[in-house]
Amino acid sequence: MSKLKIAIQKSGRLNEDSLKLIKECGISIDNGKDQLKASARNFPLEVFYLRNGDIPQYLRDGVVDVAIIGENTLVEKGTDISFIEKLGFSKCRVSLAVPKSQEYSNTNFFNGKKIATSYPNTVSNYLEQKGVKTDIHLINGSVEIAPNIGLADGICDLVSSGSTLFKNNLKEVEVILTSEAVLAVSTKINNETQKILDTFQFRIKSVLKGRNSRYVLLNAPNDKLEDIIAVLPGMKSPTVLPLAKEGWSSVHSVINKNQFWEIIDELKLKGAEGILVCPIEKMVV
Ligand code: PRP
Repeated sequence: MSKLKIAIQKSGRLNEDSLKLIKECGISIDNGKDQLKASARNFPLEVFYLRNGDIPQYLRDGVVDVAIIGENTLVEKGTDISFIEKLGFSKCRVSLAVPKSQEYSNTNFFNGKKIATSYPNTVSNYLEQKGVKTDIHLINGSVEIAPNIGLADGICDLVSSGSTLFKNNLKEVEVILTSEAVLAVSTKINNETQKILDTFQFRIKSVLKGRNSRYVLLNAPNDKLEDIIAVLPGMKSPTVLPLAKEGWSSVHSVINKNQFWEIIDELKLKGAEGILVCPIEKMVV
């Protein structure tokens, strides 16, 4: 029987969240330490733990069918590879930075300057488009140290919280791209495996929708119901049930996590009471 072969990061910032997502899709995999390959017990899925930078080539060759990978790695090493789902975690950016004390007004600063980076293609393409010529030094780790040891005038690297830049006395001056984890697909995937991928993607969508939503329950006096319902979007429309107390109803609905506080504030203003907000495990629509 066919299996969907998925690559995930062996170690690094995407590893833990990738495994968590697979688990929340109801798929159990044996996570033996130092294992490079593992099979799922209850889904036709085989997991390959690979080095991040190698994943685009494995997709290209069809050695794996799909991968959970950062958009930043695709931009750098796999512009020919497409993705079918943004996964909402490992959000970061790839940015240019210079020493804090350095005066900086625009990208022309980098003309003729040395840039240390693990993202040579990304930074070259970006600066070339702006007509800026630089000297790129490829470094595979601890890029932020380069300006402090006189190796470069600036750097281009991944920035998440910004604390590594801060600790190394650097300031972010240009955001080249923003990135998050995505589900990338090999062009060599066959029809049978594609069907497994469709099921897998359906589960992922349900998990992500659940993560982005909250279930809201509240009590409302019947004469204020109309105003309160107008604030709540719901999947179709909110559920309204009578309470034992006459003249009151219980209203149930689903709201977007990002609009949470705005909606709650408005609900209170319109007369809602006893508001409960619960997480949603999965949302199948
Ligand atoms: C990345 C990147 C930076 C750091 C930025 O390294 O190279 O050094 O994270 O994160 P921050 O803005 O939250 O400080 P990572 O830890 O992923 O390891 P790497 O050196 O293997 O890329």
